[in-house]
Amino acid sequence: MNKLKIAIQKSGRLNEDSLKILKECGISISNGLDQLKATVPNFPMEIMYLRNSDIPQYLKDGVVDIAIIGENVLIEKGNSISILEKLNFSKCKVSIAAPENFEYKSIKDLEGKKIATSYPNTLNAYLKDKGVTADLHQISGSVEIAPNIGLADAICDIVSSGSTLFKNNLKEVEVMFQSQAVLAVSPLLSKNKEGTLKRLRFRIQSVLKARKSRYILMNAPNEKINAIIKVLPGMRSPTVLPLAEEGWSSIHTVIEKDKFWDVIDELKIMGAEGILVVPIEKMVI
Ligand code: PRP
Repeated sequence: MNKLKIAIQKSGRLNEDSLKILKECGISISNGLDQLKATVPNFPMEIMYLRNSDIPQYLKDGVVDIAIIGENVLIEKGNSISILEKLNFSKCKVSIAAPENFEYKSIKDLEGKKIATSYPNTLNAYLKDKGVTADLHQISGSVEIAPNIGLADAICDIVSSGSTLFKNNLKEVEVMFQSQAVLAVSPLLSKNKEGTLKRLRFRIQSVLKARKSRYILMNAPNEKINAIIKVLPGMRSPTVLPLAEEGWSSIHTVIEKDKFWDVIDELKIMGAEGILVVPIEKMVI
């Protein structure tokens, strides 16, 4: 049985985007009757829907071969597990927050304080590194309520939009690290599954590159082509095609999505017209 077993979050903030990236990789998923396991008819893979916090242990034990999981969970529970790809979604921070009226100047202000958290290992290591001793209270959910009910002076949890902190009158005082969804691999992955994993990684990389890029095309007078090409770094070299109208060409290239707004004004000044920016579905380089 050489099927690659992948764990994804059963429910929660990573679930939808994890399924989405797999679908974009051409993996079609047919749910099994029990819904905890799904078969993949068109790729040698099996999907296991698991609880987020259990996934690191399943990876360590080799019960699953790979997983899409938050880096925050791996840092907390996943020593010995390697990250293969950062997936660029479900971005969040793991932070310490305190009540709005807490006069916070530095981490030293947490000395001797009670801190509620679902991330005891991460927080312990962070405080130790800063030479601070605090009283940690491990809670598995609704951590942000702890200061309001007198359970703790501060909290440590993930912050995404910041709305949970805001609703609970808390302010972020330390960002411990930034986290995102990653593809992680079991240390016990068997040799005969390496080929399948390589194929899957290739597909994921193609999807991630495409998500970051845009295909851009524009018309420009021929005498401006060289200047325009200089501000348009393409995959290799832009494509230039003559237009039916004498003296004009169409320039096509690929740019990083985030760079588009940096170059658009320059392109217009240089005489580019009819600029189109198009999403790319897959990008194989
Ligand atoms: C997480 C975390 C925070 C919240 C932060 O909970 O525990 O409570 O999200 O997100 P925000 O900054 O966008 O408000 P989640 O809803 O993922 O469920 P959990 O309690 O099971 O961790």
